Amino acid sequence: NAMLQWQRTGFHFQPERNWMNDPNGPVYYKGWYHLFYQYNPEGAIWGTNIAWGHAVSRDLVHWRHLPLAMVPDQWYDINGVWTGSATILPDGNLAMLYTGSTNASVQVQCLAFPSDPSDPLLTNWAKSPSNPVLYPPPRIGDRDFRDPTTAWRDPSDGQWRIVIGSKDDHHAGIALVYKTADFVNYELLPGLLHRVEATGMWECIDFYPVAGGEGVDMTEAMYARNKGVVHVMKASMDDDRHDYYALGHYDAAKNAWTPMDADNDVGIGLRYDWGKFYASKTFYDPAKRRRVLWGWVGETDSERADVAKGWASLQSIPRTVELDTKTGSNLLQWPVEEVETLRKNSTDFSGITIDTASVFPLNLHRSTQLDILAEFHLDPLAVDAVLEADVAYNCSTSGGASSRGALGPFGLLVLADKRAAGAGEQTAVYFYVAKGVDGEVRAHFCQDESRSSHANDIVKRVVGNVVPVLDGEDFAVRVIVDHSIVESFAQGGRSTATSRVYPTEAIYANAGVFLFNNATAARVTAKKLVVHEMDSSYNQAYMA
Ligand code: FRU
Repeated sequence: NAMLQWQRTGFHFQPERNWMNDPNGPVYYKGWYHLFYQYNPEGAIWGTNIAWGHAVSRDLVHWRHLPLAMVPDQWYDINGVWTGSATILPDGNLAMLYTGSTNASVQVQCLAFPSDPSDPLLTNWAKSPSNPVLYPPPRIGDRDFRDPTTAWRDPSDGQWRIVIGSKDDHHAGIALVYKTADFVNYELLPGLLHRVEATGMWECIDFYPVAGGEGVDMTEAMYARNKGVVHVMKASMDDDRHDYYALGHYDAAKNAWTPMDADNDVGIGLRYDWGKFYASKTFYDPAKRRRVLWGWVGETDSERADVAKGWASLQSIPRTVELDTKTGSNLLQWPVEEVETLRKNSTDFSGITIDTASVFPLNLHRSTQLDILAEFHLDPLAVDAVLEADVAYNCSTSGGASSRGALGPFGLLVLADKRAAGAGEQTAVYFYVAKGVDGEVRAHFCQDESRSSHANDIVKRVVGNVVPVLDGEDFAVRVIVDHSIVESFAQGGRSTATSRVYPTEAIYANAGVFLFNNATAARVTAKKLVVHEMDSSYNQAYMA
């Protein structure tokens, strides 16, 4: 079926077939980037036979698939080799911690090592004879104890710390910290690293330092007690299936992390991504001194469709993560620079002005694999002339890209049917500017999936939220289009939105890109608009 085949991506990471979920143990080892991932070797849906898929890359773009790293073959992981994280030890060796689902479906933590540490591909893995190394502690449910983090060393005692997510009996999400000298024996530290009321089970906790610019390794940050460092806590909320993060400060002596802003605590404020993005995990890349984020991008079509196409899920483009030193209150996420090596046939459309209530087609050769950089300028006089506009605007509930307001929506239509002048299948990536009577302007960054496909077995939403746009800044967005995924980064990565889309007509040569402006009170100029067609990364001799 040509339509189903078309949905496979050209430069996002995906296995050749079958089901994938969380990224696991991402790490840089002896010149290679490793990505492990939750994988069902036998079908396109999740199952208790979930194993660790494995692939390696020199550049985070071109991947070589390797044999399964670990499969459920022990009593302690027979119901699944679940999510885990890698830690590089001081001697250069690597320890892998993961959650096993036991023969009784108890969640236990397990340890594994490379069978041959001198093999840079880390092809074979040996589970520790001491497994399982950790059982759920008292008062924690047998099925609420999973996804150990990368370990870091505390200078006060030279011992390792790891975090494990759970929930308590009041349905608060909690983060437990364990200490270990050898990854085999553990001690639960008193208190909780953090707890947030009513947020439910915290899956896939990630805990790491950030600063502006260069990335920092956790142990490094601990030793340096670096003043510019802020600690990020991220958890995947099983209740609403979104990845939330918060910025805060870690007090190792008190075993406590405190958010900088209580209104933006974990699970109630900032999200990594407003669309489909879950169970993500970062790693520190010592080669390029950066922190890199992977996230699982699932399907939003039906399970039946997944079985028909024989595969399910992608990984996001790997993203660098750093502190936004301009706002001080959010992270910046940006596609790793290596992605730019796939750019070819670039077209510069900068300077186009789009009138109110209009759509403008971009003349492109191919529009199924793109990297688009846009900066939209609103005439400040037009903005001044508006007294009040849409203070209650909400991406998800205000009617999406086809509604009309004074200062929005405006932006791009991608995977849009070329033949339909903006009236056919399309995914809209847009800004919507609201203005209070006090003159305060607030920008919303949204992605509208509601007209992305004529198929009806698909979850279609309008996703997004408010994004900080500082004085003097234009409205900037980078949109990565790759067949069935649209991954967008607004204002240099202050806000991101990822959509899975399944066009039935806007495919192959019929897929196009339009600019649109549905604002009634302002013309919009695309001060900068560069569209790069993207090569595929799966056409190399590189592949195994
Ligand atoms: C998150 C998750 C993890 C678990 C794994 C099982 O998507 O549920 O909590 O370890 O997936 O596949």
